[in-house]
Amino acid sequence: MTPMTTLTEHLKTQKTPESLIGLISNITATCHDIAKLLHHGPMNDILGLAGAENVQGEDQKKLDVISNDMLKESLAGSGLVRGIASEEEENCVGCSDVGEYLVLFDPLDGSSNIDINSLVGTIFSVYRADENGRVEDRNFLRPGHEQVAAGYVLYGPSVILTLTTGHGTQMYMLDQNKGIFMLYNAKVQIPKATKEFAINASNQRHWAKPMQNYIADLLAGETGPRQKNFNMRWVAAMVGDVHRILCRGGIFTYPWDKKDPNKAGKLRLMYEANPMGFLVEQAGGKAFTDTMRILDIEPEHIHQRVPVILGSADEVDICIGYHTA
Ligand code: AHG
Ligand code: MN
Ligand code: MN
Repeated sequence: MTPMTTLTEHLKTQKTPESLIGLISNITATCHDIAKLLHHGPMNDILGLAGAENVQGEDQKKLDVISNDMLKESLAGSGLVRGIASEEEENCVGCSDVGEYLVLFDPLDGSSNIDINSLVGTIFSVYRADENGRVEDRNFLRPGHEQVAAGYVLYGPSVILTLTTGHGTQMYMLDQNKGIFMLYNAKVQIPKATKEFAINASNQRHWAKPMQNYIADLLAGETGPRQKNFNMRWVAAMVGDVHRILCRGGIFTYPWDKKDPNKAGKLRLMYEANPMGFLVEQAGGKAFTDTMRILDIEPEHIHQRVPVILGSADEVDICIGYHTA
């Protein structure tokens, strides 16, 4: 049997700078520690609410706080990071004045799944730090196409790392005994066409007309305008839905809705849409808001929210067509 390639070995074949390999190793080692905590969830007293709200007014789960602190501490101690920004932190946090990178993360995506032992993950996004000295929130406000790396670790039946450094998208599986991520898919490729969609359909009455029309046409099946039957899936953790799409195609959307009309969407640009957009594009898919490419958005705020439509390229085009018609 051919020996499997480790994460570090594969990054070296892509001529990844040593400092970025060090940074990715730091993040994935912490994710391994988070995976261990999750594995013994109820025994580690990590389930349930933390008793506080984050800056976005959402109830924090104990594990949101714990995983945030673990990532923050290990990145701050790495010497490689100028500063971090997190879904669970009000403002960015300065780390090393000479650190080469800025890291943004959603420490635990899908936190409503923790207490039911279902899929959760950690999503991260990496930029090169451009200015010397202390970081402020404004230093993080850069479009997604400037990311130098993005990925997620999915804590499922297997612990999976999906990563891009701009050379395609790769998947690695954690060898739990050795604590090493091993490459198992060197070229993730999202099929262009699909018959599967993901949306929280309970919001249907709140969507804008174009999204209502698009989903109605999918549901009409083979006797409707699309002339084929579609299947629906919803994990309630973007990390799980995007993973499925990277494995077998599909379209995922979390659109604007009038439940909370002042919010542009539910998902966060810097911690969710940008890193997932980078991974999806590197795998041949597309990632849009209802009007534009996500990676071209000039961010205005670190906690900014956006509508998200991503996945199989042809299906994203069709969905955008309903919005621009
Ligand atoms: P988070 O747990 O980081 O707050 O993110 C949850 C997000 C996303 O992962 C998922 O797609 C969506 O919220 C689920 O929303 P619903 O509760 O509407 O299903
Ligand atoms: Mn999330
Ligand atoms: Mn989260």
